[in-house]
Amino acid sequence: MRGAVSDIQMHWRESGRGEAVLFIHGFPLHGGQWAEQVDRLPERWRWLAPDLRGFGETQAGEGDGPLEMDLFADDLANFLDAQEIERAVVCGLSMGGYVAFALWRWHPERVRALVLCNTRASGDTEEARERRRALAERIGREGAGAAADALLPGLLAERTRRERPEVVARVRALIESAPAQTLINALQGMADRPDSTELLPTIDVPTLLIAGSEDATTPVSDLEFMARAIPDARLQVIEGAGHLTNLEEPAAFNLALVHFLEALGRS
Ligand code: MLT
Repeated sequence: MRGAVSDIQMHWRESGRGEAVLFIHGFPLHGGQWAEQVDRLPERWRWLAPDLRGFGETQAGEGDGPLEMDLFADDLANFLDAQEIERAVVCGLSMGGYVAFALWRWHPERVRALVLCNTRASGDTEEARERRRALAERIGREGAGAAADALLPGLLAERTRRERPEVVARVRALIESAPAQTLINALQGMADRPDSTELLPTIDVPTLLIAGSEDATTPVSDLEFMARAIPDARLQVIEGAGHLTNLEEPAAFNLALVHFLEALGRS
């Protein structure tokens, strides 16, 4: 599906009808990361998986500065307006989690509940910013393939990389579809993002935290920290999954998500 949002044409995948669930993809992927959710989850919810600005088939717009998390969040609030959705369950993975925090910061009335996957509330350390700067320079020289080479080991569990070449190929293709300039601008946007730790106690909607037991990029301890700081939160650890829990272990991920949504319906 495609439509006008903010100053761009946005592309998204969609299925089902009912209460809306908005999926926000990680870096450097696009909404296709959620295929096993949009295609397989029950039709009684409305599943929406947009490509963020500059990623997938969504236009980048005129500006060529950093892709700030706040800008992505404003686009998503405008996307909900365009879909006439007042409030959605917001499910963000990794960078998608940073965008979910920005949505909570600026548009909390749009958030019915939160699902925060493989993400962290803290901002970047100086070392992390330096790594992003170095990767952006490399992408500038070598293109998006450099991002795939650098990031794949941190995105998938060691066992997934060893035993499931089709998953590795799929993630590589997702990464390589991104324009180099989008990757560079989003790396800067992530480096600039604020620390969201102080937001955690203000989250007064039900929250599900999802971690991968083998996630080398966002360790389970980051999600445990958030589980303690968010008043109404529960943590689900997906065994055997790395950083891309929804794509590496879709059955376990979907089960956790549906249990959470069913409980929401009863509350
Ligand atoms: C992601 O998966 O979105 C990235 O690991 C986020 C990051 O680089 O901080």
